[in-house]
Amino acid sequence: MLPYQTLVVIEEKSDLSVYRQIANSLISLIQQGKIAPGTFLPGTRQMAGLIHVHRNTIINAYNELLVQNWIETLPRKGYRVILELPLVKPRSFRPGTNYDESLNDNDFPRHRLPQSGLPDIPSHIDRIIVNDGLPDIDLMPFKEIMKEYRMLVKSPELETILASGDNGGSVKLKNATCRFLNNSRGLNITPDKIMLTRGAQMAIFIAVGLLVSPGDEIVLSDPDYIMAGEIFKRAGAVIHRITADDDGINIDELEQLLSRKNIKLLYLVPHHHHPTTVTLSIGRRAKLLSLVNRFKFWIIEDDFDYDYQFKNKPILPLASGWHGGKIIYIGSFTKLLAPSFRLGYLVGPVDLIKQAIAYRRLIDTRGDVIMEEALAILIDTGRLDRHIKRSNKTYESRCELACRLISESLGHAVQFKKPDGGLAIWLKFNECYPLAKIISKAAAAGLVLAGSAYHIGEDKKHNGIRFGFASLSEDELYKAVAILKQVIA
Ligand SMILES: Cc1ncc(COP(=O)(O)O)c(C=O)c1O
Repeated sequence: MLPYQTLVVIEEKSDLSVYRQIANSLISLIQQGKIAPGTFLPGTRQMAGLIHVHRNTIINAYNELLVQNWIETLPRKGYRVILELPLVKPRSFRPGTNYDESLNDNDFPRHRLPQSGLPDIPSHIDRIIVNDGLPDIDLMPFKEIMKEYRMLVKSPELETILASGDNGGSVKLKNATCRFLNNSRGLNITPDKIMLTRGAQMAIFIAVGLLVSPGDEIVLSDPDYIMAGEIFKRAGAVIHRITADDDGINIDELEQLLSRKNIKLLYLVPHHHHPTTVTLSIGRRAKLLSLVNRFKFWIIEDDFDYDYQFKNKPILPLASGWHGGKIIYIGSFTKLLAPSFRLGYLVGPVDLIKQAIAYRRLIDTRGDVIMEEALAILIDTGRLDRHIKRSNKTYESRCELACRLISESLGHAVQFKKPDGGLAIWLKFNECYPLAKIISKAAAAGLVLAGSAYHIGEDKKHNGIRFGFASLSEDELYKAVAILKQVIA
């Protein structure tokens, strides 16, 4: 008999249960040929004695091997490793065999997408992550939403909810979103003009997929939200860029393009422009609306962080003005609840919404209906509004503090403008401080600058990065700015 007591390895600190560890050990012994096909394994009592575990643990391990077809039971004889190990069976746990070959660019019919990743930070250093502008999960109403979720799971309504048809999201949440948008943004819409999505990102993807064909001329700003730009590139659009300044995107440049070119669509983030956080001024909004009515091009209005406006005089979205149905309005609940809470919406003409629902089905049917219904309850009971008001207060004071610290400690090295709202500050480093160096030096000191960075290729002229202040505590803000000060010293 094989020396199972030494061959079967059990690690006390492993997250895997002991019976799984035993099963995995036996599988790898079979794979390595150390236990030959046809070998009888020791009986459960004997094996338990050999490797000093309870007999039930061995019974569970053998059951696992039976389920996975590595062994069979022979009446009155015991457990035998099956005679023929089929070649093709999902049973190899050896890493690094099949998918290690790298592909070349021709394997990807469009272009390779940029990949994101955080820089390596030495493990002994406490790290602070400055993100792109995400909400603070400590402020999120998780308990409330999970309470509603649990009640729905237990309620007699559950069956109806789960069996509901796929028509652009939960009816309750579409109704609630409709009221929410009409009350907060003056959109004046009905639920048939809304489709729910898994976040604003999916809404942008769907809108572009429906409206943009290869060769269509579209307008983005420079700089712009990178993840929207990638969608337009993949759609094969011809991209024209207009500049953005302290009043938002340059509408005169847009007008010139509209007069010279056959522009199909403009994508913009009017509150607060990504990456620069600037709010499109009222004058420019009025002019943009007049251009839509004159030139009849489409606008995708990405209003992903509308609800974070610190002044008491919020500017309404473009979509609330007169545009003859040409503005596709996109928003997000992820920025109100948590980055991984994937819910957003797309608003547009009824026909477009019907197409959008059909298009979404190609990549995702239904969505998380129970979570959608739970959120509807939060909206209908006014708790989402209260959460927005509370968060705005906290974020406004964090924004004040971040701006004060940055101007005191980094004023000589960066240009920035205090935003009117949103969750991030746009930091433009002076030319003599190349962003790539700052990012890597900061990482070595425990500060991960993970916001969208504009410093490669065409973007070199911006040398800027988004500094998400909202999810950082006061203490973290002090530490983050102190590290930056030390990095640029
Ligand atoms: C400008 C802009 N639009 C859209 C999105 C996507 O938001 P969501 O998380 O709802 O998909 C983001 C994400 O940060 C963003 O910055």
